[in-house]
Amino acid sequence: MSKSILIIGACGQIGTELTHALREKHGAEKVVASDIREGDEYLMNSGPFEILDATDFDAMEEIVAYWEIDEVYLMAAMLSATAEKFPMRAWNLNMNSLFNVLKLGKEKKIDKIFWPSSIAVFGPNTPKDNTAQNTIMEPSTVYGISKQSGERWCEYYHQKFGVDVRSVRYPGLISWKTMPGGGTTDYAVEVYHKALSEGNYTCFLKPDTELPMMFMDDAIRATLSIMESDAEKVKVRSSYNLAAMSFTPAKMAKRIQRQLPDFKMEYVPDFRQAIADSWPGSIDDSAAREDWGWKAEFDLEKTTAEMLKNLSASHQGNLF
Ligand SMILES: NC(=O)c1ccc[n+]([C@@H]2O[C@H](COP(=O)([O-])OP(=O)(O)OC[C@H]3O[C@@H](n4cnc5c(N)ncnc54)[C@H](O)[C@@H]3O)[C@@H](O)[C@H]2O)c1
Repeated sequence: MSKSILIIGACGQIGTELTHALREKHGAEKVVASDIREGDEYLMNSGPFEILDATDFDAMEEIVAYWEIDEVYLMAAMLSATAEKFPMRAWNLNMNSLFNVLKLGKEKKIDKIFWPSSIAVFGPNTPKDNTAQNTIMEPSTVYGISKQSGERWCEYYHQKFGVDVRSVRYPGLISWKTMPGGGTTDYAVEVYHKALSEGNYTCFLKPDTELPMMFMDDAIRATLSIMESDAEKVKVRSSYNLAAMSFTPAKMAKRIQRQLPDFKMEYVPDFRQAIADSWPGSIDDSAAREDWGWKAEFDLEKTTAEMLKNLSASHQGNLF
């Protein structure tokens, strides 16, 4: 019998595309999407959907029992920029949702868990270039502290209770189907929309702020790949470094100008600059490559071509 999957936080930037990918792979009826709010039309109409607050353990347990769920992907979280504004709400959501899912794993009510971490686990004292899997980790943001703690708890539940929890540290994710949800790398999505609709963009980071990024197709592939790997290959049970490309806003603007020569980028840094300054510029993902064969496919060149192609189709109204 094929497995049943629950995605929590399915209506967000990653969850939407992850739901589609998992439904294609396992069959729509086997993949239950859930969120605290409803999602886009395709997500709502392409398979089962439940309203679920990830901090409500009883409701989560009930849904897991009703749909006979084997695997949970926990995508609900408050992201870096929003978390700085609502620290306690972020802490409660990011930690309690994880504890709830880990508890289901410990009680053997589910077999496998995916929980995403982030490059935000690193901090200002971490070496910035080609940041290693194991290095100084002193996150200085609310979000980073919650992800770092989450990693420790994942490893703990794996070692103490045998919970099969798997995780990657996503870099900033670039996608065209769904808008980002309040992170520090959101500029790298907004810029493509504004380049097409207005011909200019005011960036909230300085032009030379280098950050690690990834196109969504790569992020989804990495997620499916770590979840499908044999358990013994997944040696890191905190979270794996994951990399694809690194660039600055200035470099991105230049690449867009090659396709849209009149595009202009201005820079008005805000509070998100301090968050970005505390994160690495580039990531060493050799552990993921060696352990479960990870390799990115999209660089800035390919990502920009893909973003502009798909967004111009949707701007012309002929996408869906
Ligand atoms: N997008 C990125 O660039 C990025 C980078 C690194 C890590 N991540 C991590 O990946 C995960 C998903 O990120 P995303 O970008 O899709 O976020 P998002 O903000 O786009 O989506 C999060 C979803 O969670 C839902 N949600 C919020 N509170 C909830 C609750 N109490 N119960 C159930 N659902 C709730 C929201 O409605 C939203 O649909 C998060 O853990 C995030 O920290 C994302």
